[in-house]
Amino acid sequence: MPSTVVFLGTGGTIAGTSADATDSTGYVAAQRSLLDLLADLLSWVPALSRTEIEAEQVSQIDSKDMGPAIWRLLAGRVAHHLSRPEVAGLVITHGTDTLEETAWLLQRVLAPSKPVVLVAAMRPATALSADGPQNLLDALTVARTTGAKGVLAVLAGRVHLAGDLRKVHSHRLDAFDSGDAGPLGVVEDGQLRRFREWPTGSALGLGVLDQDPARWPWVEIITSHGGARADAVAALCAAGVQGLVVAGTGNGTLHQSLVLALDQALAAGLPVWRCTRCAGGVLVGPDSGPAARMSPWQARLELQLRLLSAA
Ligand code: SIN
Repeated sequence: MPSTVVFLGTGGTIAGTSADATDSTGYVAAQRSLLDLLADLLSWVPALSRTEIEAEQVSQIDSKDMGPAIWRLLAGRVAHHLSRPEVAGLVITHGTDTLEETAWLLQRVLAPSKPVVLVAAMRPATALSADGPQNLLDALTVARTTGAKGVLAVLAGRVHLAGDLRKVHSHRLDAFDSGDAGPLGVVEDGQLRRFREWPTGSALGLGVLDQDPARWPWVEIITSHGGARADAVAALCAAGVQGLVVAGTGNGTLHQSLVLALDQALAAGLPVWRCTRCAGGVLVGPDSGPAARMSPWQARLELQLRLLSAA
């Protein structure tokens, strides 16, 4: 029976520090090492010393700066540890700001049959009432749950699937949501209470990320809004963009000034995907397309991955 849980550190507010314990906004993210965070957790929960845990610092960044180079490195380390028979699951510490992008990338590339649990915090490690330690403990609980699989995120006691995950609040401790689908479950007193099935889906495979990170296809998000201008589309096309995701109003509708420019881009062979700019809901209707259920940033990554796999 596999029993080791591997922690991978990437930075974020969960590893952030401030000189002032009452400061929950003016801190610096990605300051404390993963080993430090785990040592703190062990000091509060000594029984964890009986758990087989390994730790590896993959990066130390504010996740606003996340990108292809770290994604490729991280996916490689995740795949390596998943392939070890003694490993039951992984926990990845991450910033909240691009958590949903990393979660989606890992799910699409690896579709793991073991749990890969992303965990983050809204308050730095030095805060009077830091949320990181409890989130870490809850993530460990999920990573050790029998039958758990797929890429998940655990924050504020709730467990989300990568595909549904959205950061919906800039400061609230419970800043993430799974939209209409609801969370996979909740962690209560060290136990997962599950409402939904574990995620399924096929993996694109790690090979899709082989391409030099500096050369991943350029995909941009444009938003339809009052006063939208076609020149934005024209400028991106002229600059060599390789794919566009349009975050449309409501059910994916587009400002009339964008329609012709996007039709021209499509006619020239550029992939153009539509999704909604609304925080919740999906595109409904026969022509809703491949990004109908995705957030703009998930759709951007998905299109990039598809272009990579077609290359
Ligand atoms: C980050 O995303 O790295 C900083 C913000 C956060 O973790 O909440």
